[in-house]
Amino acid sequence: MKASSGILLLAFTAVASALENGLMRTPPMGWMAWERFRCNVDCENDPKNCISERLFMDMADRLAEDGWRELGYDHVMIDDCWTSMQRDKDGLLQPDPKRFPRGIAKLAQYVHERGLKLGIYADFGTHTCGGYPGTTFDKIETDAQTFADWKVDYLKFDGCYSSAEDQEKGYPLMSKALNATGRYIGYSCSWPAYQGGLPPNINYTLLGEICNLWRNYDDIEDSWTSVLSIVDWFFTNQDQLQPVAGPGHWNDPDMLIIGNFGLSPDQSRSQMALWAIMAAPLIMSNDLRTLTSDARNILQNKAIIAISQDPLGIQGRRLLQEKSRIEVYWRPLASSASALVFFSRRTDMPYRYHCSLDKLNYTAGLYEMYDVFTGEVLSLPSHTTPFTVSINPSGVVMWYIYPVARPTQTGEERKYPSVRRKLRVSTVRRGQRNGEHHLFL
Ligand SMILES: *[C@@H]1O[C@H](CO)[C@@H](O)[C@H](O)[C@H]1NC(C)=O
Ligand SMILES: *[C@@H]1O[C@H](CO)[C@@H](O)[C@H](O)[C@H]1NC(C)=O
Ligand SMILES: *[C@@H]1O[C@H](CO)[C@@H](O)[C@H](O)[C@H]1NC(C)=O
Repeated sequence: MKASSGILLLAFTAVASALENGLMRTPPMGWMAWERFRCNVDCENDPKNCISERLFMDMADRLAEDGWRELGYDHVMIDDCWTSMQRDKDGLLQPDPKRFPRGIAKLAQYVHERGLKLGIYADFGTHTCGGYPGTTFDKIETDAQTFADWKVDYLKFDGCYSSAEDQEKGYPLMSKALNATGRYIGYSCSWPAYQGGLPPNINYTLLGEICNLWRNYDDIEDSWTSVLSIVDWFFTNQDQLQPVAGPGHWNDPDMLIIGNFGLSPDQSRSQMALWAIMAAPLIMSNDLRTLTSDARNILQNKAIIAISQDPLGIQGRRLLQEKSRIEVYWRPLASSASALVFFSRRTDMPYRYHCSLDKLNYTAGLYEMYDVFTGEVLSLPSHTTPFTVSINPSGVVMWYIYPVARPTQTGEERKYPSVRRKLRVSTVRRGQRNGEHHLFL
């Protein structure tokens, strides 16, 4: 456990030079096929759910018509299993003609007409993970150009069937090749996930220079066990992973599975809250055509989305792991606000957790807290005032918290020098909330 000033300083030692394509200044949002629809290519028997242009057009319609796009969910992403088993006679990737009869360029047009962006998938290696044609060294420039010609906006570049040595050359080469096309294409690198995800095997400084986001760890599955294993890995390794994220270059703990079969409503709220704390991409993999209103409400929660999309782009951290199996997570936000998540790993009953902002090393002052799930606004007269939150088993309480008054003692100034500089901390008076903290008002 680091001292809080250590936490804050760490939070600001961000990677200096990032990929200069100007994309993804906040974590990308959208929808991706993989976790829910996998490599289902059986369009004869399962036409609604197979990997085909129809699936992506359906999802584009839903994103555009059901309020998702306005909230920032603006990418529709193809994953594996979209190509033919062979490249065409000129060596180009081609979509399966039965499942994508109109081709990817037409699909991109359809998606663009709805104000959305199209993501596509390729694999650096001899084959994709699903056994389709891969992108070997000699095909990197060709494939980048193909995607640009089709007006694709995003590439997930997987890493099945390539060696660590080749990946070290191949991932930077694809970054250069995408840039050379002249089209702005977001670049998601699976490289770290194939090499253990941690330094020294992974050089995150380099990743930040060549990729907009990267998968660090295992694929998510439709289960709470899977979500927990991802949360455990990312926060156990937060000292290495947290500083490397920032505008234009993000850690990617994988897709949101909210709306599928594996998570209870409380667990769904937990995934959403913890992904926002992690400044993770919010890429859903579910069936937007049949989503329940419970799932929709969680995924469309404006306050959580605003926290996820905070302009400072600082990834959050785990602050506390209590013996009671309650954990506290924190993310600093613009306008001297922050987000707190109280997470229960208990399996018995709602737990009444006692805490104070002081214990979490908040500086002296008056604070208000907006409970992002209930909409309640709470205020605390002092940072030392004890409070109690009731947290459901495998659930969370999440607050957006902002100061309504600050003492101006110089002692306080010295306590968080970097934060005060960056966040422009000033005395915010009651009633100014509309101006300074307009997050979701
Ligand atoms: C608060 O700061 C103290 C002293 O620097 C440190 O020991 C403690 O771990 C910090 N607590 C949290 C929750 O960050
Ligand atoms: C290519 O990279 C340069 C900087 O190296 C950047 O200025 C330019 O915007 C990039 N272009 C594209 C299309 O990504
Ligand atoms: C990591 O990559 C950066 C940027 O390319 C480079 O300057 C640095 O030397 C590399 N670090 C290691 C340990 O290889």
